[in-house]
Amino acid sequence: MQITLQPGELLREATDLAVLISFEDAPLPAGVAELLEPADFRGKSKQTLLVYGRDTVAPRRVLLVGLGKQEKASAEGLRQAGALAVQQARSMQLRAFTLGLNGELPLAPELAAQALAEGIELGAYRYDRYRTGLSDEQRFTVEHATIVADSAEQPMRAGIASGQAIARGVMFARDLVNAPGGVLTPAAFGDEAVSLGKRAGLNVVVLDKAQLNEQGFGGVLAVGQGSANEPRFIVMEYGTAGAGTPTICLVGKGLTFDSGGLSLKPAEFMSTMKSDMGGGAAVFGAMQAVAELKLPLHVVGIVPAAENMPSATAFRPDDVITSLSGKTIEVLNTDAEGRIILADGLFYAQRYKPDAIVELSTLTGAIIIALGSHAIGMMSTSQELADKISHAGEASGERVWQLPLWDEYHEMIKSQIADLKNIGGRAAGSITAGAFLANFVGDYPFVHLDIAGTAYAEKPAKPYGSPGGTGVGVRLIAEYLQTLAK
Ligand code: BES
Ligand code: ZN
Ligand code: ZN
Repeated sequence: MQITLQPGELLREATDLAVLISFEDAPLPAGVAELLEPADFRGKSKQTLLVYGRDTVAPRRVLLVGLGKQEKASAEGLRQAGALAVQQARSMQLRAFTLGLNGELPLAPELAAQALAEGIELGAYRYDRYRTGLSDEQRFTVEHATIVADSAEQPMRAGIASGQAIARGVMFARDLVNAPGGVLTPAAFGDEAVSLGKRAGLNVVVLDKAQLNEQGFGGVLAVGQGSANEPRFIVMEYGTAGAGTPTICLVGKGLTFDSGGLSLKPAEFMSTMKSDMGGGAAVFGAMQAVAELKLPLHVVGIVPAAENMPSATAFRPDDVITSLSGKTIEVLNTDAEGRIILADGLFYAQRYKPDAIVELSTLTGAIIIALGSHAIGMMSTSQELADKISHAGEASGERVWQLPLWDEYHEMIKSQIADLKNIGGRAAGSITAGAFLANFVGDYPFVHLDIAGTAYAEKPAKPYGSPGGTGVGVRLIAEYLQTLAK
C-alpha cells in the first residue's frame, strides 16, 4: 500500500471517497453538515456513516468515522479508524481514498500519523495464499491512501513511514503464523530468517541439528527429537555492540507445531498449534521493523525452532535433559516444551551481555484463563524494564499485565532428581512457567511475555485484526525500541 501526505483540505480534493475522522459531538464542517441529520452521526467511537457529496463538497462520497470524546482520543482510536476507512474503500472497490481529521488531536502529529498508517495497512491485510478461484472482487486491493492535513507536514511524513515499517513487520509475523505447520517447518523457518537477513541487512546464523549436537543445545534437541522435521536455532543480528549503544536480545518461542508430544494434546486443543511459533514470528517481524526504522541500537533476535511430535524417537515424561546452560531439567509433561527450548535460547542470549532480554512465547493455556485475549501476561526480574514494557504496551495498543515472580513460585518447580522440573502443577501455571525461564538469564534484566491468549484469533476483536495470526508483540517491541532509541 502506498500512503502519502498531502497538504491541504480534505473536502476540497475531488476524490471518490474522503474519510473524515471526527470527535464525539464535534461540529461537522460546512458542506458536510447539510448532507445528514445531526442525530445520524454523533462521532461515537467506531461509529461510521457514509454520505454522498452534492456540490457542497468536492469528494463524491464522505465516510464519517467517529473517534469518541476529543480529550480521550488515542492512537488506538486512530488505528481503528484507519482500518475502518480502508475497509470501506475496499467494499466499494475503490483503489484510492483520502483521509483527514475534523478537529485538533490531543496527540503529537507524528504519533497520530503512525497510528493511522498502521491501521490502514493492517486493516487491508488478508491471508489468501491458499485460496484458489477467488473472484476479482475478492482479490481486490486498495492501493493508495492519501492523508490530507494542513499542518505538521514533516512529523506526519515521518510518522507514516514508521507506521508502515511497523505494520509490515506485523504482517510478516501474521504470514508466518498463518503458514501451516507442514509448510513452515523449523528448516523453513530458518530459511525465512536467511531471506529476511538478505532483504533487511541482518547478520543471520541458523544452526542445524548437527551443530546443535556439537554445541550442547540439549533443550532444543530433546523437544525436536520426535519429529522428522529437524530443529534449528536461529540468530539474527542488527547493528553492532558499542559504547553508548544498548544491546537488546529478543527471544521468541519457535514451536512450528505443538502436538504435545507423548503427552499428546486432545484434538480440540491441537488445532491452531501451528501458531506456537507466534513468539518467534514476533521476533522476526520486530527485527524487520527495527532494520527498516534504522534504529541506533544493537538488537539480536534469537529463535529456537522445533516441532513437538510423538514418535518412537520422541523425548518422554521422566526423561532428564541437560540444557545448554548445563542445568538439568526433569520432564514431567512433554507438552510443557516451550520453556525447554527457551531455556537454551535465553542462556544463549547471555553471550551478548545484553542490557535487556525480552522474550515472547505462546507459553501457557493458563494465561488465557487469567487474561483472555485482551492482554499479554508479563513477568520480569527487573521492575525498571517491566515499567518500560508496560508503557510501550499502552502506547502501542498491545497491553501487558504483570504477574509476580516471588520465591514461592520458584520453589514449585524444584525437582528431586534434577535442577528443575518442567511443570509446577495446575496452580499459577503461567507464573511457574515464567519462574522456570528466569533460571536461564543470569543477572541480565529479563521480561517474559506470555502471548498464548493474544497471538491467534479465530475472530479478531479489533477492526485492524484479521482471522488467524495477530502478529502481536511486533508493535509492542517496536514501540519499546523506538523509545529506547530516542
Ligand atoms: N503451546 C502451549 C500453550 C498454548 C495453549 C498456547 C493454548 C496457545 C494456546 C504450551 O506448550 C502448552 O501446551 N502448555 C501447557 C503446559 C502444561 C502442560 C503445564 C498448557 O498450558 O496446558
Ligand atoms: Zn505444549
Ligand atoms: Zn507449546
